[in-house]
Amino acid sequence: MKSVSRCDRTEAWSRLQALHRSSGSRFDLREAFADDAGRFGRFSFEAPELFADLSKGLIDAATLSALIDLARQCDLERRRDAMFAGEPINASEGRAVLHTALRAPRGAAAHGAEVHAVLDRMLAYAESVRDTASSGIRHVVNIGIGGSDLGPQMVVPALDDYCQRDLRLHFVSNVDGHDIAAALRDLNPAETLFVIASKTFTTQETMANARIAREWFIANGGTDTRKHFVATTTNIEAAAEFGIDTTFGFWDWVGGRYSLWSAIGLPIALAIGASNFRALLDGAHAMDEHFRVTPIERNLPIVLGLLDVWYRNFHGFTSRSVAPYHQGLRRLPAYLQQLEMESNGKRVDLDGDALPYATSPVIWGEPGTNGQHAYFQMLHQGTDVIPVEFILVREPSHAHADSHQKLLANGLAQAQALMLGKSADEAAHEKVPTASATIDPQVLARHRTFPGNRPSTTFLLDRLTPRSLGALIALYEHRVFVSGALWNINSFDQWGVELGKALCNALLPKLASSDVSGLDGSTAGLLARLRR
Ligand code: F6P
Repeated sequence: MKSVSRCDRTEAWSRLQALHRSSGSRFDLREAFADDAGRFGRFSFEAPELFADLSKGLIDAATLSALIDLARQCDLERRRDAMFAGEPINASEGRAVLHTALRAPRGAAAHGAEVHAVLDRMLAYAESVRDTASSGIRHVVNIGIGGSDLGPQMVVPALDDYCQRDLRLHFVSNVDGHDIAAALRDLNPAETLFVIASKTFTTQETMANARIAREWFIANGGTDTRKHFVATTTNIEAAAEFGIDTTFGFWDWVGGRYSLWSAIGLPIALAIGASNFRALLDGAHAMDEHFRVTPIERNLPIVLGLLDVWYRNFHGFTSRSVAPYHQGLRRLPAYLQQLEMESNGKRVDLDGDALPYATSPVIWGEPGTNGQHAYFQMLHQGTDVIPVEFILVREPSHAHADSHQKLLANGLAQAQALMLGKSADEAAHEKVPTASATIDPQVLARHRTFPGNRPSTTFLLDRLTPRSLGALIALYEHRVFVSGALWNINSFDQWGVELGKALCNALLPKLASSDVSGLDGSTAGLLARLRR
C-alpha cells in the first residue's frame, strides 16, 4: 500500500500538541468528574462481550475529537479496510494480514474454503484425541515458542472451566533444557501426544525441543511416533522430513503472534473441544465486525489505539500495565507483550525512514490482586505515570462468592486510588499506628501522600467464556493495529529478532572450541569464563 501522511505532519497532530500544552498536561481527573456529571457515560463504550470505562483516562471531549480527526487524517479507515481486504499491508515481507479470515464464518471472507477445511479436520482430530478411552492420550505437550506458544498457553488456563479433566496440557517453549526436562519428568510415552508448533518449522528452540521429545519417546519405550507426534505449521515438507505425517497447516498471511485462531490453536481445541473453540472464533469475529463497521467515535479498538497514541506521544508515558483481576488470565500480560511490542516496537516508518516520535510502550503486568502486593507501590507513588488497564469479570465460575466480592472491590479500589490519590493534608489528619513514634508528623504526611490523577482503563466482562475471551483478544489485536497504523509502521514484521538469532548461530561453535577470534572483549571474556 502507498505510504500515507505521517501522523506528525497532520493538522490534528499540531492541534493535539497545542491541546496538550494548554490543557492536557494540567488535566485533572478529579476536577473533570466534578465538572461533568455525565463523564462516565460520555467516556464509556460497549463492544461485543465487554464494556470499557475510559472515564478515568486523561482525556476530554476536545482531545478525543482531535484524536478522531487524527485517525481520519491518517486514513485509518482505509488502512483497516485494506487489511480486511487482504492487501499486502505487511509490505516488507510482501504479505497480506488476514488473521480475521480465520474466524470469519464459512463463506464470509477470503480463503474460506482452505480455512474451514483445516479447521474442520483439526477439530475432528481434537475430538478423537479427547475421546481418551479410545485414544489413550492423557497428556498433550505443545512444543513451540513466541506466537506458537503464548496464545495457547494464555487461553488454556483462561478457559480452565471448559477444559477436559482427564487430558492435561503442558507447554514447552524455552531452549533451556530445564523446561522440557520438567515437562517430561512424570509422563509416559504411551499416554502422551506431542504437538510440534512452528510456523516456519525451523525455529532453533522448537526444533531442539522436538528432537529431545522424540529421543525421550523412543528411549522410554514409545512406539508409533506417527501417532504421538503431530505438527502445526506452514512448512508441511519440513514436518514430513522430521517424520511427522499428521499435520495441520496454515498460511503466510497469518502472523505468528496472530495465529492462535489457526492450527496453532490445536492445543486449545484439545483442551476445550470443538464447539468451545468455535465459540472463541465467534467472539473474535464479533469484535472484527465491531472494528470493521462501527463509526470511529464508538469504535472501541480505534478509541483505545488513539488513547495509546495520546499517552505515548503527547504525555510521554513509556509503559502500560495490564492487571487482569482473574487468575485464569495470568498469562495475558505475557501474551500482550509479544502482541504489542513485537508488532509496534519499530523505529522506522513504512518507507524505512527513521521516526521522530515514540512507538510501542512497554507492556507488563500480573494478575490482581498479586500485583498490588508487588509493584503497585510504584504505580501509586513512583515518579513515573503508568496507565493501568484493569480487567474485571462480573460473574466467577467458582462458589466462593465472598472472595469474588473482595477481588472486585480490590480492582475498583486500585483504580479509584490511582485517580483520587491522597493529599498531604488528608494524610496529616490520619492516625497511623504503624508509624515511627519519633517521626515529624509533617514528614510522615509527605511519605503518605498520593499524587493521584493517575489514569486507568477498566474492561468489564460478564463472564470469562470462550466467546468473551475471543472478543477480548481481538480487541487487543485491533487496538495494536490502530496505533501501528497511526505511527505508519509495519506492525506485522519482526526483523528485530533476526540479529540475535544470527549471532547465536555464530557463537554456538565458539562455545565448544576455545576460539574467541573476532569477538568483542566482553563476549570473549564471558565465553572464556563459561568454558572454565
Ligand atoms: O520471535 C520471532 C518469531 O518469529 C515470532 O514472531 C514467532 O511467533 C516465533 O518466532 C516462533 O516462530 P515459529 O512459529 O516459526 O517457530
